[in-house]
Amino acid sequence: MSTLKVVAIDFGTTFSGYAYFSEHEYKRDPLKTSTNADTGRLASYKTSSCVLFDPTRNFHSFGYEAEENYSALKGKNHDWYYFRNFKMMVYDKMGLTRETLIKDGKGKTMEAITVFSSAIGYLKSHLFTNFKKQSTSILDESGITWVLTVPAIWDDKSIQFMREAAEKVGICRERLILVLEPVATTLYCKKRFPLQKGTSHNVFKSGEKYMVIDAGGGTTDITVNEMRTDGSIRELHKASGCDWGGKNVDSSFISVLADIVGKDVMENFSVINDYDFLALLNDFEMKKRTISPDLNESVTIKVPKSLPETFSERNPRSKITDVILNSKYKDQLTWIEHEIRMDANLVKTLFDEICMQIVDYLNDLFTVPAFTDVSCILLVGGFAESLMLQTAIKEAFENKKIVIPKKAGLAMLKGAVYFGQQFR
Ligand SMILES: Nc1ncnc2c1ncn2[C@@H]1O[C@H](COP(=O)(O)OP(=O)(O)OP(=O)(O)O)[C@@H](O)[C@H]1O
Ligand SMILES: [Mg+2]
Repeated sequence: MSTLKVVAIDFGTTFSGYAYFSEHEYKRDPLKTSTNADTGRLASYKTSSCVLFDPTRNFHSFGYEAEENYSALKGKNHDWYYFRNFKMMVYDKMGLTRETLIKDGKGKTMEAITVFSSAIGYLKSHLFTNFKKQSTSILDESGITWVLTVPAIWDDKSIQFMREAAEKVGICRERLILVLEPVATTLYCKKRFPLQKGTSHNVFKSGEKYMVIDAGGGTTDITVNEMRTDGSIRELHKASGCDWGGKNVDSSFISVLADIVGKDVMENFSVINDYDFLALLNDFEMKKRTISPDLNESVTIKVPKSLPETFSERNPRSKITDVILNSKYKDQLTWIEHEIRMDANLVKTLFDEICMQIVDYLNDLFTVPAFTDVSCILLVGGFAESLMLQTAIKEAFENKKIVIPKKAGLAMLKGAVYFGQQFR
């Protein structure tokens, strides 16, 4: 018999997901939490942060399901609403309220609260459906403690907004806890990396200052905290969010293509052939994860045929192959029909700018007198799984202890579950 006790939900710019623990599993292993990836049904442990509404503004689907349903609308003239990256849209909009509107890809507006609450509702029912399949016991909803993660830079109004969004889908106020993202991350690392014997730097010695870097899709959030003797956390530096993350690598890739076909062609293609543009990004997303400093082989990415077609329409006398031969990419990139092959060195450069930006920003922070003695860096978030970013940070800060949990993209979500356990 297994009873659902704590459920944590994390909304990311690019990926969202949940983690939970059930009583039965907890007794066996208190550190075991489950995520929607553990069902084995998803390619990734989170699903993408996309929401689809029908023309009558009723919620239709979320995540990969929404992506697929939206792709099925290709070629049809329709009035559906499709939101991607919706958290990013409210990133710099402090004071989120019930009235805040957000725009979908085609500029149609909807209340942000409807979009967020639909997403929470989807994750909730996805969890319940899966849990019921796996467990023979009756699901007692009233006994669940819910935890929602929120960026440390969000103000009180935005946090209130999140509470209301959860309430709208039946998560009652008394059973809901909001946790700041870096606090959840710290808790995870504290449990997973207790004091390590024989190392010069122990993770979390009391009184030690440490930095949490959450490298996500849309943002990299940085906080500096101190672990107090009683184990509580003192925030020394409020999260400074930078709107850089894994998405910048995608933008660098798109810029390479734009260098070849022309900026206007690329822009036109991304708007007119938006479904194909998303397919291109999805293929790149998979390939991006294979890029590491040791990579020697070239990387092949599928390119929808509508891109070379758009190029030919605009440049009837030119050939893409000729353009490449006359460009700086001539020895590093080949474009054969609907595939491009990029040399290992070229794909690695796609990470250069974003890694440099993050390292420079950290270098600046370490010059602040209060932070010169920060000895430990916790590196988490999906982008922290990139060996390119990991290497850049390790090389730049050799004198610091750098802690990178195995599934860095899940650390915060699991930490949020631990946080919820403290309140039971
Ligand atoms: N193995 C990997 N190699 C390179 N990039 C990766 C890898 N795994 C995930 N990413 C990138 O990490 C990003 C997603 O990270 P994460 O899931 O933490 O973001 P998020 O929570 O959605 O975003 P944010 O925290 O900005 O709101 C994406 O840009 C994705 O491409
Ligand atoms: Mg995140």
